[in-house]
Amino acid sequence: MAAGATSGLVDVGMMRTVVLAIADMGLRQRLRASLTGLRWQVREAGGGAEALAFLEASRSEALLVDSWLPDLEVSEFAGQIRLMYPGMELLRVDGSTESGGARSPRRNELLHALREAQDAPLNDTAVWASAPLVVPGSGGRALGTRITGAQYPSQIAVREDTDRREILAGGVGSALPEALMLPEMVGTSEPMRELAALIRMVAPRSTTVLIEGETGTGKEVVARSLHRLSARAGRPFAVLNCAAIPEALLEAELFGHTRGAFTGAVQSRTGRIEAADGGTLFLDEIGEMPMALQAKMLRFLECGELQRVGDNETLRVDVRVIAATHQPLEQRATERTFRLDLYHRLAVFPVEVPALRTRMEDMSLLTEYFLEQLGQAMPRKRLTAEAAAKLQEYNWPGNVRELMHVLERASILCGARREIGVEEIRFRRATRS
Ligand SMILES: Nc1ncnc2c1ncn2[C@@H]1O[C@H](COP(=O)(O)OP(=O)(O)OP(=O)(O)O)[C@@H](O)[C@H]1O
Ligand SMILES: [Mg+2]
Repeated sequence: MAAGATSGLVDVGMMRTVVLAIADMGLRQRLRASLTGLRWQVREAGGGAEALAFLEASRSEALLVDSWLPDLEVSEFAGQIRLMYPGMELLRVDGSTESGGARSPRRNELLHALREAQDAPLNDTAVWASAPLVVPGSGGRALGTRITGAQYPSQIAVREDTDRREILAGGVGSALPEALMLPEMVGTSEPMRELAALIRMVAPRSTTVLIEGETGTGKEVVARSLHRLSARAGRPFAVLNCAAIPEALLEAELFGHTRGAFTGAVQSRTGRIEAADGGTLFLDEIGEMPMALQAKMLRFLECGELQRVGDNETLRVDVRVIAATHQPLEQRATERTFRLDLYHRLAVFPVEVPALRTRMEDMSLLTEYFLEQLGQAMPRKRLTAEAAAKLQEYNWPGNVRELMHVLERASILCGARREIGVEEIRFRRATRS
């Protein structure tokens, strides 16, 4: 991790780095031109994830964020930045005010503001934080506004005295406010906050992630969030379920094949890895991958190169691999039923999705969420207190998926009634994780 990136005193005369998180290349270039000659080194990012990757890679003193980002919700993104980089200047730039005839005066204001800011001593937080980086535009609208901690929940109000490593090392989960949770992952319990924080941290990188968790906990939801929050979001998300494809076909499915490579290969075909070029490959149920293919997969992970089945040509692709398993993969690796070297290569960043029974405080939110969804197809139902209590007493071996199904069945069983009673909550005893 970027150890030491935020510690130590910085020479006032040093160049400062400003990251532009702006989708519009034209606007980025105009801002870059405006900053020429000032003591700002400019890094251009087309989206939030790319900007996060820059911030992670090297120390930056300011971040200019557009009012819209293609991959992240701006307020969410700004909140996360405040949390992770409490001492950094964060400015919102309104791209729409930059166009048209009123451009130059506003550019001058920005220039003026940045000129003032570059002279503020960096290690004097008070002076730095009060430097007027962006001033209101003459036309009444602001080109940019400083985003202060006060606009976010108190837990993430600017914590100038906190080293980012402390945040990373200790309760980042507990500090994560609800606004920063992932919209697709319902739940505000401590384990879910920790999970959301980990996802946000690792998503912008190309690091391989191993998602572990019981069946139905939301491993695929996590994989999709990782892709959505990365700079690869606009590129393919390819899924391969290693348990769903016959062993004999899995290699060709992954690596592709040439015409005539094997009986039945009447045409050449692109594999999932190649199809995911520039994006993410999600290998579901990785524990089911045959040993021989594991060796080939390891080679690909190590050098980013692959050969189609029946072909000698080596292809190079840029793919981020995310794998998921409900099996105890580490144990299987020590028992030698899964390659230990591949396990280590996959588990660079392991993420455990918590079982529902360990976060029962999320039950009411999850229930509301699913009843709301079901309410789109039939009248919205509610649970009686007894029915809600019955959900609390169960141990949920099938986790969130099972909850979804129990509620759907209950909604149907209660017919035209609006209330789901305890008798409509039925568990399938056969379900085992
Ligand atoms: N936290 C959550 N919030 C909302 N929906 C969720 C959550 N977790 C899981 N789900 C939903 O539950 C279902 C199961 O999730 P998912 O397929 O991601 O689980 P999984 O861990 O991959 O399961 P399996 O091991 O069986 O493949 C999906 O419909 C998903 O949308
Ligand atoms: Mg799954």
